[in-house]
Amino acid sequence: MMGATVILACRSEEKAKEAMTWMNAEFQAEKDRKTKEVVDYPELRIEFMKLDCASLQSVMDFVKEFKNSGRQLHILVCNAGIGLHKQAYTEEGYELMFQVNYLSQYLLAAHLLPIMKTSGEDCRIILVSSEAHRFCEFNLDRIQGKQFNEQNFGRLLFYGNSKAFQIMQMFSMNRRLQNSNVAVLSLHPGMVETELRRNFKDMTIFNIFTSLTKCVGKLKNPFEGAETTINAAVSPALRGVRDIYYDNCKPANIHNIVTNTQNQESLWTYTLDCLKKGDFLPEDIIKCLEGT
Ligand SMILES: NC(=O)c1ccc[n+]([C@@H]2O[C@H](COP(=O)([O-])OP(=O)(O)OC[C@H]3O[C@@H](n4cnc5c(N)ncnc54)[C@H](OP(=O)(O)O)[C@@H]3O)[C@@H](O)[C@H]2O)c1
Repeated sequence: MMGATVILACRSEEKAKEAMTWMNAEFQAEKDRKTKEVVDYPELRIEFMKLDCASLQSVMDFVKEFKNSGRQLHILVCNAGIGLHKQAYTEEGYELMFQVNYLSQYLLAAHLLPIMKTSGEDCRIILVSSEAHRFCEFNLDRIQGKQFNEQNFGRLLFYGNSKAFQIMQMFSMNRRLQNSNVAVLSLHPGMVETELRRNFKDMTIFNIFTSLTKCVGKLKNPFEGAETTINAAVSPALRGVRDIYYDNCKPANIHNIVTNTQNQESLWTYTLDCLKKGDFLPEDIIKCLEGT
C-alpha cells in the first residue's frame, strides 16, 4: 500500500480541508511515535473531490473527474448519509434519504466498478448501513413515499429502508461479482456521537434514546465509530469475504426482509430502471455490473 492516496469525496471543500488538516496532524503524531502501521509511509496523501449525493449529476461529474485522473481504486467506502430527514425530494425527484443514502452511492459504485475490476487483488466496496435497517419495509409502490404528507411520513421507516437497501445492494452485487476481485461488505458503525442527529433534533424520543445510550456508556466517539468501517475496509483477515454485515467488527444478523433474494432482485431491477431513465447507466456499465 506504499504511496496510496485517500480521496475525500465530500460536498463541502471547507469541511474536507478541516478533516485533511486533522488527519495529517494525526499521521505526523503517529510517525513521531514510530507507530509500526505508519512508519513505512513517506507521507499521507489526501485529496478532496467534490461529490454531492443529493444530485445524480454531481455523482456523474465526480466519476468523470475520477476517471480522467487515471487512478486505480482499491477501496470504496460509501459512508455519506442523512438520518431521519423530514419528507423531502431531490431535483431528480427521489425521496432524499433514498437518493443520498442509497441511489447515488449505488450509481457511484456502478461507475467505479470497471476501474476496481482492473485495480488488482482484494478490492472492496464498503457500505456503511445501520441497525435502523430493521425498521424497513419492502414495498416498491411506496418506495418514494409520495402517498404520504409531512405529517404521516415515517422518517424512521424511510431512513431504515435506505439502510436496508444498502445491505440488499451488497447481496445483489456480490452475486454478480462472485468470480471477481471485488467484494462488497456492509456494516453498522454503532451508535456514534456525530452530526447525524442534526436532522432529527426535533424528535424528542430519539434525543432521549441518545442521552440514555450515553449514560450507559454505549455511545461511541467518532474514533470508536470508525473502527468497524476501517476493519471491513483494510483487515487482511477479510480478504475474499463477502455478504457479511458487521457490527462491532463482528458478523451480525440481518433482518429477513433484507436477506430475501426476491426482494433484493426486485430492488436491483427498480434501481436500474431509475438510473436508466436519466441515462445515468450506459450499456457498458450495465454489462460490467451484471458481470457479463
Ligand atoms: N452516528 C450514528 O449513530 C450512526 C448509526 C448508524 C449508522 N450511521 C451511518 O454512518 C454514516 C456516517 O454518519 P455519521 O454518523 O458520521 O453522521 P454525520 O456526522 O452527519 O456524517 C454524515 C456524512 O455524510 C455526508 N453527507 C450528507 N449528505 C451528503 C450529500 N448530499 N452529499 C455528500 N455527502 C453527504 C456529510 O457531509 P457534511 O459534513 O457536508 O454534511 C457527512 O460527512 C451514515 O451513513 C449513517 O447513516 C451512523
